[in-house]
Amino acid sequence: MTPKCVFLFSWRLFCVLVCCGVGHSRRNVLLIIADDAGFETDVYNNTVVQTPHLRALSQRSLIFKNAFTTVSSCSPSRSTILTGLPQHQNGMYGLHQGVHHFNSFDGVRSLPLLLKEANVRTGIIGKKHVGPGPVYPFDFAYTEETNSVLQVGRNITKIKLLVRKFFLYVAFHDPHRCGHSQPQYGAFCEKFGNGESGMGRIPDWEPKYYSPDQVKVPDFIPDTPAARADIAAQYTTVSRLDQGIGLVLQELRDAGYENDTLVIYSSDNGIPFPNGRTNLYGSGVMEPMLISSPEHRQRRGQISQAYVSLLDITPTILDWLSLPYPSYSISGGDPVQLTGRSLLPALISEPAWVTVYASQSLHEVTMYYPMRSVHQGPYRLLHNMHYRMPFPIDQDFYVSPTFQDLLNRTRTGQPTAWFKTLNEYYYRERWELFDTCSDPTERRNLAGDPAYAQVLESLRAQLFKWQWRTEDPWVCEPDGVLEAKLEPKCRPLYNGL
Ligand SMILES: *[C@@H]1O[C@H](CO)[C@@H](O)[C@H](O)[C@H]1NC(C)=O
Ligand SMILES: *[C@@H]1O[C@H](CO)[C@@H](O)[C@H](O)[C@H]1NC(C)=O
Ligand SMILES: *[C@@H]1O[C@H](CO)[C@@H](O)[C@H](O)[C@H]1NC(C)=O
Ligand SMILES: *[C@@H]1O[C@H](CO)[C@@H](O)[C@H](O)[C@H]1NC(C)=O
Repeated sequence: MTPKCVFLFSWRLFCVLVCCGVGHSRRNVLLIIADDAGFETDVYNNTVVQTPHLRALSQRSLIFKNAFTTVSSCSPSRSTILTGLPQHQNGMYGLHQGVHHFNSFDGVRSLPLLLKEANVRTGIIGKKHVGPGPVYPFDFAYTEETNSVLQVGRNITKIKLLVRKFFLYVAFHDPHRCGHSQPQYGAFCEKFGNGESGMGRIPDWEPKYYSPDQVKVPDFIPDTPAARADIAAQYTTVSRLDQGIGLVLQELRDAGYENDTLVIYSSDNGIPFPNGRTNLYGSGVMEPMLISSPEHRQRRGQISQAYVSLLDITPTILDWLSLPYPSYSISGGDPVQLTGRSLLPALISEPAWVTVYASQSLHEVTMYYPMRSVHQGPYRLLHNMHYRMPFPIDQDFYVSPTFQDLLNRTRTGQPTAWFKTLNEYYYRERWELFDTCSDPTERRNLAGDPAYAQVLESLRAQLFKWQWRTEDPWVCEPDGVLEAKLEPKCRPLYNGL
């Protein structure tokens, strides 16, 4: 299929170089991914955080209420966004940077690679956090690989100037924590660029501050003074993100591309609080998602209940650009199948999509805790394969004021104001089944309840089917070994699990 004069992300330069005379057939994509962002925006009825630019975008978008990441960890999630394949299939099992060192398989055909082959120019500004380089080839890149991630990921003036130059996938570093790496800027880098002494200034940012007694504490976070102060700082960086999105969208408008650009906004994983990021509970995998199409105006401002996944982003962008997914195999096996779908039909009428899957193996290299899950209608089924190990804790989250306070309270026997104990958090059941209709915070495990035996069996069967279909090397864990050659099947270990 011959692409029209289509390209992802590069408008000014592209127009000068290639676009001449193609007129209305050009189609662009702007993909905005926030870092650790959740529902802290008035788009999702949080009336405390001021996010007027996201609000304005949502009025031109379909608002997804049930969007899920397949993995609650940064690099793995970004790899799924850019490949349409779960982490266990594309090989990015954990974080990319430093000692963690995870990468996708060399044979993966990522979205930027497919677009490059179709002569579509691509660019990225902000956090890339995936590899290896040849699998994710962007024509234009200002990322942590060549710049300070604070500059390209949080300095919204810098981002604005870069966007002016080209166009792309904008991966903000806000509202990620930074107390672990840059404590001088606060727990969420909420002071970076605010003009105070030693903080520098971001000319386009008008900082918004929130008081701890104002914030809305999600029901999965302990309602303590420490957590409230932490959330207030998070809100400040959410409003920097919001102002940055406003600047990027203004650049799009000023460059005359508003009417041919598909805009997608989402985030990579759950918020960095207890029960959030690195978990496959709803609080770890549900994401904000907005899709604004200049050609699908029917449902603008409406809310969709459809279950959608970050695995759907690659098929959606390919569909928007009228590009097919190639037939190929990653390592000589069966051809890869995308299990996500294009979301463009949802922009026309509400689809009956009720099932999504998730798959996590690690976050940091030390954090091996493989889990798989299926989310179907009100039900959530989680398979914690290595449930006898304590649930692992990441470095960045460990030093957060909320978690330090939770540790202190637990150690000294004070009330934690949390909905579970630390011990329950560390030691989980192998199978966890929740009915979010009657139990929205996912507290009551129904896996052993005979009244739910059929639900459990049906979800378990669907989950295994998806694991086989996506070539999951963990499909036989923890009580069997996958013998993949000849006739792939699970051989029993007789280990009592
Ligand atoms: C916001 O609240 C209104 C009123 O309760 C509700 O109808 C709507 O679904 C909520 N929006 C989102 C995105 O959750
Ligand atoms: C943000 O970027 C602008 C433009 O490059 C620069 O002038 C400013 O000093 C930067 N702010 C910080 C805090 O680094
Ligand atoms: C975009 O479309 C809207 C609505 O059709 C129109 O009012 C506006 O002028 C268009 N903008 C550009 C830059 O073509
Ligand atoms: C937790 O306790 C340690 C040791 O007593 C103390 O230094 C720290 O400030 C406390 N942290 C919080 C968030 O209460």
